[in-house]
Amino acid sequence: MEKSLYLFTLLITFASAQDPIVRITRTEPEQRGNVIRAQRGKDITIWCHVENLRENINVRFEKEFSSSVKSISRNEYPSDNTRYAIEKPKEFTWRLRIKAVQLTDSGVYICHVYLDKYSKSKAYVNVLVNAAPVFVNDQTTSDSIYKNGYKVILNCSTTGYPKPYIEWTRLGNALLPIGRERFQNSTLEIKSIKPQDRGVYRCRSWNIMGEIARDITVGVRFKAEIRVQNRILKQKLGYVIELQCLAETNPYPIGLSWKRRSGSTLQTFTVSSGRYVVNAVKGAFNRFIYELIINGVQQEDYGEYTCEINNVEGKSSAKILLEESEIPMPSIKRGIPRASANINQSISSISITLLTFFVATLIH
Ligand SMILES: *[C@@H]1O[C@H](CO)[C@@H](O)[C@H](O)[C@H]1NC(C)=O
Ligand SMILES: *[C@@H]1O[C@H](CO)[C@@H](O)[C@H](O)[C@H]1NC(C)=O
Ligand SMILES: *[C@@H]1O[C@H](CO)[C@@H](O)[C@H](O)[C@H]1NC(C)=O
Repeated sequence: MEKSLYLFTLLITFASAQDPIVRITRTEPEQRGNVIRAQRGKDITIWCHVENLRENINVRFEKEFSSSVKSISRNEYPSDNTRYAIEKPKEFTWRLRIKAVQLTDSGVYICHVYLDKYSKSKAYVNVLVNAAPVFVNDQTTSDSIYKNGYKVILNCSTTGYPKPYIEWTRLGNALLPIGRERFQNSTLEIKSIKPQDRGVYRCRSWNIMGEIARDITVGVRFKAEIRVQNRILKQKLGYVIELQCLAETNPYPIGLSWKRRSGSTLQTFTVSSGRYVVNAVKGAFNRFIYELIINGVQQEDYGEYTCEINNVEGKSSAKILLEESEIPMPSIKRGIPRASANINQSISSISITLLTFFVATLIH
């Protein structure tokens, strides 16, 4: 009994004396306190030197990440030679090259000599891959058009190390729908999107390695919002009157008409004819002016007019009442009373009204 214990102790002592000594002798880039900081896309090389290596013992490289260990190589054979290369520049020296490192290559790299499962003959180095942010395209919102009133979550996702910051802003000095100028989050939630929320949103992402930005155009589909400058217009018999609806809509209307109800008859104006000129003038930002010009107002022209604008989102309308006046009223567009106007004149003078409309909307 005593003799066998003695033999056993002797064996252990002998084995320990012969245990291989594993050291990481060099790395590229150079390690600092067991840490290699590498840049995404560059190669990393790790030299592992083993002393007292016995015959038929394997030298392995392994990678440990969040407590799981993955085998990289055994002796001169990498598990995946598209990503790893192993060389033996000298006897007892193994050199591991990790090709074009990605963020997922961060982890602890171990050079390991397997004796038995209690073996401690290993050396390790920590790899941290630093990377400027890049967009994760399928998790980043692209240009889109949303339905008015819907909840919209704009997503912006980037990867990088250290973890990149993400910030939302809006171009054109507009506030974000949440009422702030900037917001740091990968998602921007718009609880109920409004026509005024359309525009260009910028997602900016940065860390110590670099900065990127992407502009996302957000559109809103909405039925026409119509404004009329005067609900009641007056004109003297024989003079020109312009009825105007100032509208904003997206997409552009599929149906436009002016209607006049007199008694039980409903008259519809969609194209210019006779004394009536019908115009739709497109402006910027989904705005346009829809007008009905009556040349030389007659008694039958007095009454209630409705401008009707339809698009895929629905139908909108606004009313204007035309009443008789004792004195000639100035033209909305010309400033002076006129007895008639032709199509050409009305088109050339429309820009003034449009300009006023847009300036008014901007101030508004
Ligand atoms: C943003 O991501 C959320 C959750 O994955 C998704 O429900 C939403 O539709 C995304 N937003 C856009 C505009 O794609
Ligand atoms: C980011 O937005 C999500 C969803 O709106 C929210 O749960 C989270 O708390 C936000 N994070 C920050 C830092 O504001
Ligand atoms: C409008 O102008 C065009 C060319 O400038 C001319 O050919 C046409 O006759 C004009 N129409 C009217 C109604 O004056």
